[in-house]
Amino acid sequence: MFTDILLFLWVCLFTSNALSVIQPVIGSLSGKVNLPCYFSTIPTSAPVISPSGTVVYNKDYLRIKWSKIQGRTESTVLVAQNGIIKLGSSYRNRVSVPSHPEVVGDASLTIVKLRASDAGTYRCEVMFGIEDTQDTVNLDVSGVVFHYRSSISRYTLDYQKAVQTCENVGANIATYEQLKAAYEDGFDQCDAGWIADQTVRYPITRPREGCHGNLPNKPGVRSYGTRKPTETYDVYCYVGKLDGQVFYAPVTHKMTFEEASEECKKRKAVLASPGQLHAAWRQGLDRCDYGWLSDGSVRHPVAVPRTKCGGGQLGVRTMYRYRNQTGFPEPTRKFGAYCFKVCLPPISEAKKRAKRKVNS
Ligand SMILES: *[C@@H]1O[C@H](CO)[C@@H](O)[C@H](O)[C@H]1NC(C)=O
Repeated sequence: MFTDILLFLWVCLFTSNALSVIQPVIGSLSGKVNLPCYFSTIPTSAPVISPSGTVVYNKDYLRIKWSKIQGRTESTVLVAQNGIIKLGSSYRNRVSVPSHPEVVGDASLTIVKLRASDAGTYRCEVMFGIEDTQDTVNLDVSGVVFHYRSSISRYTLDYQKAVQTCENVGANIATYEQLKAAYEDGFDQCDAGWIADQTVRYPITRPREGCHGNLPNKPGVRSYGTRKPTETYDVYCYVGKLDGQVFYAPVTHKMTFEEASEECKKRKAVLASPGQLHAAWRQGLDRCDYGWLSDGSVRHPVAVPRTKCGGGQLGVRTMYRYRNQTGFPEPTRKFGAYCFKVCLPPISEAKKRAKRKVNS
């Protein structure tokens, strides 16, 4: 039993930390993050004596450049020089550096309205006098917005039920900012859903017949405006960082909903919630087999596009009972199972030794 826990701890630690040597900065979808970059403020160029006799330094010698590194290519995020700031197109209105970096030696980059696609490696380059400082920093962005339809049918949730439903599936009702950030990342869903501010909206990146809403032929987040809480729609939920592990039960036979639930219990786990599956998908969980989830729905995560699996589309695929995309499959139908297991927080070596003594 105790070796089980140790093994499991090791698995958790290995998968969450061991792969990246430098701890990345972690931000959440639509949130704000600060990528640190510091430099020495001791000027190295020759001072200039002004006519009044005071010592001044040439103001032209500070240049800050932030770029994002993708494989072998680099794209410019921001260049600041002589008070002029140039931004890469997808960073407009979203990035900034301190207004007087030379005073504090701080060229850190602030990014707001974070998108999942902002995750990656950034390089900071500061030229100050003849000094050239470089640093790289990794950014992780957690959080996923997903569409949720009740097991009954399309558009059955009033506002209260919508809020409750997201909580029941291990998530929270999404805010407008979160839905907007997901849209910027390419989220496209032609179904009207409640969001936290009691408006009803849906994100469309590929405008098409039947999905125009208030923005005909234009990409964008469609809005029905603020609605009466008694009206019924689907809902958009948001889930943050996964606090455990989701895995596909390693059995070859398919199971009913009951059997799937038992199978997870045997592995000291429970059926994963849709929120947990989406969070795991964001972390890269990829599996072409449909499996039962805790709410009685059947889904599978596609993190690597393949034509044979989900038609080349990315995301969590849902199996509906009917062709019109409503209803969950009958609980007697047989599928795999997605289980969720809590990851214990990392414990220090000292605590581990103490525990070992207690156990031996
Ligand atoms: C979807 O199809 C089922 C079965 O054909 C039908 O009973 C149901 O009313 C349909 N729902 C919607 C929203 O069209």
